[in-house]
Amino acid sequence: MFEKLRKSWLMFFVLVGLSFYLSSCKRAVDIKFSHQLHVEENGISCDQCHPKQEDGTMGLPTMDTCSDCHEIDLDNPSEKCLMCHTSRSASKDYEVSPLSKPMSYKDLNFSHEYHEDLDVECSFCHIGIEKNKDLGTLKYPTMDVCTQCHNGEEAPAECETCHKVIRKDRPPANHGGDWTFLHGREARVSERVCHYCHQKNMCQECHQREKPRDHQTFVWKIEDHGEEATHDRRRCVVCHSAGFCSDCHRQMPPSHKRADWLAFDVHNGHAQAARRNFRSCKVCHETSECVRCHNSIIMRQP
Ligand code: HEC
Ligand code: HEC
Ligand code: HEC
Ligand code: HEC
Ligand code: HEC
Ligand code: HEC
Ligand code: HEC
Ligand code: HEC
Ligand code: HEC
Ligand code: HEC
Ligand code: HEC
Ligand code: HEC
Repeated sequence: MFEKLRKSWLMFFVLVGLSFYLSSCKRAVDIKFSHQLHVEENGISCDQCHPKQEDGTMGLPTMDTCSDCHEIDLDNPSEKCLMCHTSRSASKDYEVSPLSKPMSYKDLNFSHEYHEDLDVECSFCHIGIEKNKDLGTLKYPTMDVCTQCHNGEEAPAECETCHKVIRKDRPPANHGGDWTFLHGREARVSERVCHYCHQKNMCQECHQREKPRDHQTFVWKIEDHGEEATHDRRRCVVCHSAGFCSDCHRQMPPSHKRADWLAFDVHNGHAQAARRNFRSCKVCHETSECVRCHNSIIMRQP
């Protein structure tokens, strides 16, 4: 009975090994591992788990690496396996899958070897690794890390040094189709990426010239823009200075030109408008201006 089990485990290992080999490009996080616990709290050095490889990459640990310190009894799969494996099936059918690498890095020329002789810690580039508690949130170094040295003086800064595909003079894939209307959303997420290729004044010049779609309506000028600005003021700042707004707000709006704007009948004119939406008055008026004709008590309860 025991022999039989053992054989089927063996068979299983072969299968798992094979499927690993075949599916090595499909990676998902399946190991519970805290760099903080090992590196910071227990002072284990990076090399112990990430030995340097011939090709300039760093090795990734296998289960053998862990068993230097942790007891792993492969003959007896149990709940103990779940100390490291997230999928419950690890304790039963041994199905596990390793961590994924960010896809975007396919384009990158990088070798640890170029940087071996520089006097920098691993964490200079792998920022925060010693505090990381969850492999799933581990991030690779961003371009900002590199450009601290790759500034054209200490080390080369041409895009081609590090990128196989991206070039300053070639619009990236996201620029297709409706880009004029879509670029705003991406710029809001990470504007600094735009400035790898574009000067700031390139953006501003166009924003002084071209209006967004919502500006085209007839009532934008006298009505809709206020509602939109109340909803999301940051949008306007992309293209307008504060002076642009206040200069115009110093002029009397059309609503004020109605004959009954100051009528004594409280159900009409400015009284009614103030009751409907007092906030809108405050865009252009200080309350002190109302108090010129009112006592302050009324102002608190329109
Ligand atoms: C006790 C073992 C251990 C130590 C010590 C350790 N790591 Fe790791 N590290 C791991 C494991 C496990 C993974 C996930 C491996 C995988 O993807 O299969 C990992 C993943 C990484 C990754 C992401 C690689 C990838 O593609 O998944 C980086 C980068 C990394 N470690 C850097 C470091 C640095 C820098 C140090 C030293 C400050 C360090 N590690 C110390 C075990 C360790
Ligand atoms: C100059 C910046 C820099 C330094 C210093 C650095 N790394 Fe990296 N490391 C990277 C980048 C960038 C990647 C991603 C490479 C890729 O995807 O091609 C990476 C990837 C890794 C990986 C994943 C496996 C691989 O090689 O792709 C491990 C593990 C790793 N680094 C560990 C370390 C350790 C340990 C040290 C210190 C001995 C270290 N790194 C120092 C920038 C750096
Ligand atoms: C050099 C020794 C060493 C190596 C190698 C090592 N660990 Fe650890 N590990 C420790 C120590 C020490 C602790 C802390 C134990 C404690 O606090 O009780 C620990 C704790 C853990 C814990 C937390 C256990 C718990 O009780 O919460 C996990 C999970 C873990 N290690 C996973 C791994 C994995 C996965 C590997 C292989 C990639 C690995 N370890 C390699 C020394 C090591
Ligand atoms: C101390 C942490 C730890 C424990 C405990 C542990 N494993 Fe693993 N196991 C790992 C790591 C790390 C890997 C490598 C994952 C990778 O390649 O990314 C791994 C990989 C595997 C693999 C894939 C084949 C291989 O050898 O790389 C199998 C199968 C597996 N473990 C089964 C088990 C079983 C069954 C148990 C319980 C008896 C167990 N593991 C306990 C950390 C652990
Ligand atoms: C601490 C400073 C420093 C950091 C950070 C750094 N590098 Fe470097 N890098 C250098 C130096 C110095 C050289 C060698 C330049 C030379 O040979 O002229 C170099 C060389 C290189 C080369 C080879 C250049 C060539 O001429 O072939 C590449 C590619 C590279 N680095 C990519 C990166 C990437 C990608 C990052 C960020 C993840 C990075 N470097 C971060 C300092 C740094
Ligand atoms: C020293 C290395 C280095 C140089 C030089 C460099 N980059 Fe990068 N760049 C990186 C790294 C590292 C990343 C992050 C990896 C990734 O997303 O592929 C990156 C990412 C990017 C991205 C994607 C950003 C994102 O977050 O999606 C763009 C776009 C980019 N670089 C443009 C450029 C342009 C344009 C140049 C030349 C003006 C340039 N890079 C020069 C290292 C470099
Ligand atoms: C890797 C370089 C690169 C990056 C990164 C990049 N662009 Fe571009 N972009 C270009 C190139 C090249 C063009 C075409 C310029 C031309 O036709 O003169 C372009 C064109 C544009 C245009 C159209 C200009 C026109 O006159 O029609 C807009 C808008 C634009 N980019 C916005 C952005 C924004 C916003 C970002 C950041 C989210 C960004 N770009 C990131 C390279 C880049
Ligand atoms: C070809 C002219 C043009 C260029 C160049 C341009 N933009 Fe725009 N941008 C527009 C237009 C038009 C809109 C409004 C689109 C719409 O109708 O929603 C807009 C909208 C935006 C918005 C969103 C505002 C909102 O409505 O939420 C942001 C953010 C933005 N652009 C950033 C940038 C940045 C950063 C650059 C330079 C890298 C840039 N734009 C270059 C024309 C341009
Ligand atoms: C062409 C002149 C003009 C410009 C330029 C202008 N506004 Fe207005 N704004 C008005 C008028 C007129 C009203 C009153 C509309 C009404 O009577 O309801 C108003 C009302 C408002 C309101 C109150 C609307 C309400 O009902 O709550 C806000 C908020 C507002 N504007 C924000 C802005 C911002 C922000 C800017 C600059 C990006 C700006 N406006 C630029 C003319 C202008
Ligand atoms: C993509 C750039 C862009 C964004 C974002 C933008 N505007 Fe404008 N807006 C313009 C341009 C260009 C004009 C025309 C300026 C001129 O004629 O001097 C304009 C004109 C206006 C006018 C005057 C209309 C007229 O006919 O005189 C108002 C009011 C206005 N914007 C309000 C806003 C408000 C409020 C927001 C935020 C909700 C906003 N805009 C966001 C580019 C923008
Ligand atoms: C777009 C800007 C704007 C908005 C919004 C606005 N006002 Fe005014 N209002 C003005 C300007 C400009 C004047 C003239 C101020 C002056 O002459 O000192 C004025 C004048 C007035 C006057 C005095 C009229 C007179 O003949 O002396 C009253 C009353 C008034 N506003 C009430 C309101 C009320 C109530 C609201 C809100 C419902 C409101 N206003 C919203 C710009 C605005
Ligand atoms: C030029 C003088 C004048 C100014 C300035 C003025 N009002 Fe009035 N307001 C009046 C008059 C006159 C009445 C009618 C009083 C009555 O019938 O008893 C009135 C009535 C009202 C009422 C109704 C009073 C009630 O008891 O419910 C409200 C609300 C109101 N105004 C709001 C405002 C707001 C808000 C402002 C400032 C944005 C403002 N007014 C500025 C002259 C003014």
